[in-house]
Amino acid sequence: MLGKFRLRIRVQIVLVGLVFSTTLVAPEISLALDGAKLYGAKCIACHGPKGEGTQVGPALKGDPFITQGTPAEIKKVILSGRTQKEKKYPNIANPMPDGLASEAEADALVVYLKGDLQK
Ligand code: HEC
Repeated sequence: MLGKFRLRIRVQIVLVGLVFSTTLVAPEISLALDGAKLYGAKCIACHGPKGEGTQVGPALKGDPFITQGTPAEIKKVILSGRTQKEKKYPNIANPMPDGLASEAEADALVVYLKGDLQK
């Protein structure tokens, strides 16, 4: 009788521990993962799987605009795109589209572009 009770309490303590540990650790993991995932979903087609660039988008890996630019400058391009007059790469005919990411997504993407993508 008492043994069963103890076991039940032990199981409950383990469950509470699990819930706590996942809520404490989860936000960090999702922040780190998001940029890479978002890049894979929204940017890869034009900028290439490793940021090496394609015919429809410049390389972002080793790009001084990414490595030396401020997060704010990079975020602005991600949010607003770059069309006709502002275009910097005349050999790529299409513009960088706007509206690809939300504010929060753009922040995560900047972290990814400046961080893991450059490795
Ligand atoms: C339809 C193709 C396309 C997609 C999708 C796209 N881009 Fe671009 N991107 C471009 C083009 C083209 C340029 C260059 C525009 C120019 O001539 O300045 C560019 C430029 C950029 C630049 C500036 C690079 C520099 O050297 O000035 C950044 C940063 C960037 N893109 C990030 C992203 C991110 C992050 C995503 C995903 C959310 C994304 N792009 C999705 C086509 C694309």
